[in-house]
Amino acid sequence: MSARLRPSLRLQAMSVADLAEVMAIEVAAYPFPWTQGNFVDSLQAAYLARLLRSDSGELLGYFVAMAGVDEMHLLNLTVAPSAQGQGHARHMLDALVTECRAASAGMLWLEVRRSNPRARDLYERYGFREIGLRRAYYPAGFGRREDAVVMSLSTAAGPGERPPHALD
Ligand SMILES: CC(C)(COP(=O)(O)OP(=O)(O)OC[C@H]1O[C@@H](n2cnc3c(N)ncnc32)[C@H](O)[C@@H]1OP(=O)(O)O)[C@@H](O)C(=O)NCCC(=O)NCCS
Repeated sequence: MSARLRPSLRLQAMSVADLAEVMAIEVAAYPFPWTQGNFVDSLQAAYLARLLRSDSGELLGYFVAMAGVDEMHLLNLTVAPSAQGQGHARHMLDALVTECRAASAGMLWLEVRRSNPRARDLYERYGFREIGLRRAYYPAGFGRREDAVVMSLSTAAGPGERPPHALD
C-alpha cells in the first residue's frame, strides 16, 4: 500500500471474510449502522474498501469510498470506539487522499450527520469545507429524518506534495 502510516499500522483491502469484525465495530460505532449487505454490495461493486489494523492484527477502523469520474465519494469512515482519539481517522484520510491522487480524483466528497460534531470537526480540521445540506438525508429514529452536511476537499497535489497530515 502506498499510504505512509506509522510502522505499527497496516492498511489492507477489505474482503467479505473481514465483515464479521467490521460489523462488530459498525454496530458499536453508529446508532444507525450499515448492514452487512451494505458492505457486501460495496465490495461487489469494487468500491475502495480498506481496513486499518495494528501490527498485532487488531482491527482499528475502516473506510469505504466510491470512485466517480475525476472524484471520490467517501461513504463510510469508522474507528473502533476503543481506538478513537488516537489519530486513526486522520491516518485513513491520508491514505484515502493518496488513493484519490493515484486515481486522478481531484475532489473528495462526503456527507455527515448534522448532529455529529466529532466527525464534522475531524473533517473541518483536515481541510474539508461545508458546501451544502441534504435535507432529511438520514434516518433519525421514531420515523424522523436528519439533514446531512455535504463537505468536499480538493485532493489535487503539486509534484511531490504529501497529504496534509502525512506521517513521518
Ligand atoms: C469520527 C471518527 C471517525 C473520528 O475518529 P478518530 O480516530 O477518533 O479521530 P482522530 O483521532 O483521527 O482525530 C481527528 C480529529 O477528530 C476530532 N476528534 C477526535 N477525537 C475527538 C473527541 N474525543 N472529541 C471531539 N473531537 C474529536 C478532532 O477534530 C481531531 O482533530 P485533532 O487531532 O486536531 O484534535 C470516530 O470518532 C468514529 O468512528 N465515530 C463514529 C463513526 C462516525 O461518526 N464516523 C463518521 C461518519 S461521517
